[in-house]
Amino acid sequence: MRNKHKYKKKAFDDTWSIFLKVIYISLFFIVLGFGYLLLESPINSYVNRKVLTPAELVLFHKNAEIRRNLQRKDDDWDRIENGIHVRTGLYADDNLDLVIGTCTSCHSSKLIAQNKATRVGWKNMIKWMQETQGLADLGKSEPIILDYLAKYYAPKDTGRRKNLEKIKWYVLDLSKEM
Ligand code: HEC
Repeated sequence: MRNKHKYKKKAFDDTWSIFLKVIYISLFFIVLGFGYLLLESPINSYVNRKVLTPAELVLFHKNAEIRRNLQRKDDDWDRIENGIHVRTGLYADDNLDLVIGTCTSCHSSKLIAQNKATRVGWKNMIKWMQETQGLADLGKSEPIILDYLAKYYAPKDTGRRKNLEKIKWYVLDLSKEM
């Protein structure tokens, strides 16, 4: 009785291990198939890649640069009109690139163009952005940027009108009207 039981168990183990082997082998092929599907195009493009001679490579980069410049012209990337850099709406200046690079990664340049402040006011705005909005320390760029902002985005003088001069005053005669 005991032996018979043992025999049955062995038969079961054998079938099970064959079953597992079949599963493993199938899994292997499935993974292989997916891998091939995934990598087919990179493998093909690597195998069939065009190998450029150094001369062709130089030409390739030259053409790429020409294409880039043409595209920039199309996009009006660097166009300046009446002293205004059209793409950003900021005043054109030697330090404009620095300002664009430092100040337009988080918000539109329009936010700068529509504000006016003294140098101190601009410094305070930058400080506020550093303390609350994660603006990094500007290091050596800060005085240059502040000069730029204070030069082009300073408050305009809007004092009161001039005093009136040479006025012919007249006496208002209320009795007639009543
Ligand atoms: C790390 C991101 C970040 C950078 C970089 C950054 N700012 Fe700001 N700035 C902000 C945020 C956020 C606001 C608030 C925007 C809003 O209110 O919609 C803001 C607001 C402003 C405002 C409006 C302030 C107000 O009182 O309305 C001005 C002006 C401004 N930034 C100028 C600048 C200048 C100049 C620089 C470059 C020195 C700069 N920003 C760089 C995040 C940044």
